[in-house]
Amino acid sequence: MPFTSLIFTENIEADLKKELSGYAPNQIFMLSDSNTQTLCLPVIRGLRCLSEAHFLSIPAGDDHKNIENLAKVWQFLSQEGATRKSILINIGGGMITDLGGFAAASFKRGIPCIHIPTTILAAVDASVGGKTGINFNGLKNEIGAFHLPKAVLFYAPFFKSLDRQNLLSGYAEMLKHGLLSNTKYWNELLSLNLSNPESVEFLAAVKESVLIKENITEQDPKEQGLRKALNLGHTAGHAFESLALKRGMPILHGYAIAWGLLCELYLSSKFFGFPKDILQRYIHFVREEYGVFHITCKDYPGLYESMTHDKKNESKAINFTLLSNIGEIHLDQTANQAQIEEMLDFYRDMMGI
Ligand code: GLY
Repeated sequence: MPFTSLIFTENIEADLKKELSGYAPNQIFMLSDSNTQTLCLPVIRGLRCLSEAHFLSIPAGDDHKNIENLAKVWQFLSQEGATRKSILINIGGGMITDLGGFAAASFKRGIPCIHIPTTILAAVDASVGGKTGINFNGLKNEIGAFHLPKAVLFYAPFFKSLDRQNLLSGYAEMLKHGLLSNTKYWNELLSLNLSNPESVEFLAAVKESVLIKENITEQDPKEQGLRKALNLGHTAGHAFESLALKRGMPILHGYAIAWGLLCELYLSSKFFGFPKDILQRYIHFVREEYGVFHITCKDYPGLYESMTHDKKNESKAINFTLLSNIGEIHLDQTANQAQIEEMLDFYRDMMGI
């Protein structure tokens, strides 16, 4: 069974060199985007173990996670003579680890890759577990493959470049991992000082989150069962994300997930008696930290429609992962239109809109 080395490093030069020497690649290729130019790329370019690497940068942003940029990466690898003995290192946020991961999965039927996430969202989610892909035909992650990176290197100084919104975006996936795992970690998350992402506590929480995700994806790499737990908050969250996009005012993924978690914890409480005190504390926290995403009842048909198109649905019913308590997971739950409207009513009541 292939596996990924998860390396939490304070010395990226030494750890990357050690990791690379294990593969002895004939050539090293580096993929990054315009977001990493100022803070992260100069550090990487200065590493002696990468002195002969080939570099390619593509424009940042999820709208660039497309076939054109994928073709640019294939072209780059092909022109420079990459082979299956070469390695592609993807340094950036989730857009880069997804697109670069898929370039690695597909070039010459698969070459090895390493991810170096530079956002919390990429660290705790996109870089772990081997999901790769691009957007296509207006649909997110429509084309892709499972392709595990050989290693993921987590280097805290890279997270310094993040503004508070991007930090909170990644933090929402950590909250999801907390809900899926245990009360101790959940309570630690809610009492973290979010103004100090370089603190020992914050980095320990990131590490815990990475390990929770790795543990789930290792047990179910191809999402046949347990991995579906990671969809908690995402059925409603993706619908909010799509609505925001249609309005021409995109929201960060993690914000959509924070609001989606609120909705799905309501369904959890309705169907499985998820504790109301935990739900209330979470609602308070979300309002404080993430604010409000405005919807009215006129948005319900569009939100419902988005949920019916979600990849996670295996039939016409809308699929959710729900909880009866922290760490008590119920996969493949469905809700009908009336129940979904009730969930959205609850969301609006709690948000005071
Ligand atoms: N982002 C959810 C997963 O990797 O399965």
